[in-house]
Amino acid sequence: MKSESVDNKEKELLKILILGDPVLRQKSTPVENIDGELVEFIKKMADTMYQAKGLGLAANQVGVAKRFFIMDLAQREGSPKLEVFINPEIVEAEGETTYEEGCLSIPGYAAKVKRHARLFIKAYDLDGNPFERELEGLAAIAFQHELDHLDGILFVDRLSPLKKALFKKWWKKHGKKK
Ligand code: NI
Repeated sequence: MKSESVDNKEKELLKILILGDPVLRQKSTPVENIDGELVEFIKKMADTMYQAKGLGLAANQVGVAKRFFIMDLAQREGSPKLEVFINPEIVEAEGETTYEEGCLSIPGYAAKVKRHARLFIKAYDLDGNPFERELEGLAAIAFQHELDHLDGILFVDRLSPLKKALFKKWWKKHGKKK
């Protein structure tokens, strides 16, 4: 059906996969071409992430098992700044920190996870240029969370056996309602 009032600027959002979908458990493969198609896709990913109020989104969370993710921690201060990490890698990691994490693929659940406190990372940007960066605080935490996604790992996998068991119970009761 066609509507006269179709808003052409309406954003095309992607479907965020929920725990239980096998793509979330796949080990993603490297991006080989950073091209216009990828740029377009990442735009849609960003719209999807902002709409869902996520801080980060990995490609396999929207069905593409390739090694890239986006993050935007600045949006919380009202000044969005999208960061794109293609074929990201941790070069060095140190320290330890704990933060209560959540995930768009596990809606409604949050739990404390232990991560490295500081990272030295490398990745490629949307122009295909390699870059390196030091990350700490929430940026380091978010990077590790998203990088885990690319390896098929979810933050609940990093909980203690007891907390994992509690999560499984919780998920049975509250999960998959989306
Ligand atoms: Ni996540």
